[in-house]
Amino acid sequence: MRPSELTQLKQDGRAISILTAWDGISAALVEAAGADVVLVGDSLAMVALCHATTLPVTVEQMLHHTQAVGRGFTRPLQQQPLVVCDLPFLSYQCGEDKAVAAAGSLLKHSCAAAVKLEGAEPEVLAVIERLVRMGIPVMGHLGLTPQAVHQLGYRRQAEDPRSQAQMLQQAKQLEQAGCFALVVEHVPSSIARCLTQQLTIPVIGIGAGEDCDGQVRVTADLLGLTPSQPPFSPPLIQGRQLCVEALQGWVKQLHQQAETATTTTSPPEPDC
Ligand code: KIV
Repeated sequence: MRPSELTQLKQDGRAISILTAWDGISAALVEAAGADVVLVGDSLAMVALCHATTLPVTVEQMLHHTQAVGRGFTRPLQQQPLVVCDLPFLSYQCGEDKAVAAAGSLLKHSCAAAVKLEGAEPEVLAVIERLVRMGIPVMGHLGLTPQAVHQLGYRRQAEDPRSQAQMLQQAKQLEQAGCFALVVEHVPSSIARCLTQQLTIPVIGIGAGEDCDGQVRVTADLLGLTPSQPPFSPPLIQGRQLCVEALQGWVKQLHQQAETATTTTSPPEPDC
């Protein structure tokens, strides 16, 4: 699927599913689940690299993980989900040339066919316009933007009419700049619904209610693999607990087998 084809899905009223992946195993899972789009989100900094925020992850690390995601797919190329890779913190805030080099390297050396970046400040809009002109499709991201955690925290955004009006304006500017889709995170469902109605491009929600063109989730949260999940993304299964119990069973069985072996009289060892 090409990025521009998501707009057709919006027009057809067919919900768009986006799941994150960070390595080969998670890529194979979300591909088998039938997700339309796989996002190699910078949340991998927290999910896979055990950082406290998304800020430390580098372009090189995003590339390394996106390459693993590509190798994890099992379907023929044409049937694989669209892969979008997050541009990490400071890879696009320091000028257009640096942003083109970062995004270009992700598209050049991995299965990523598009990038996602956060915000809609004038500098970010200029970067998006330049990337799109260079043939690099861009997904926008508004609302809770984790790269701005030290300014905004992880709280719900666009709670009052003034900030909702500002978000609508920013969303329109992102569409105008050439974004092919927009993620809105942790905002009231009323503003997400409004954006969905007002924009031509698909609006993809996370913690933004059900009235969006699609939904995105961090796969490790859905599977209950992360130590805790955000309130708007409850786990579908307690994956961490299930895995620990299965592995505990294996360790216990191994110890029992070793104990049985030492208590049974064994035949003399052959000379080696
Ligand atoms: O990094 C990420 O996983 C994301 C999603 C939460 C949208 O940006």
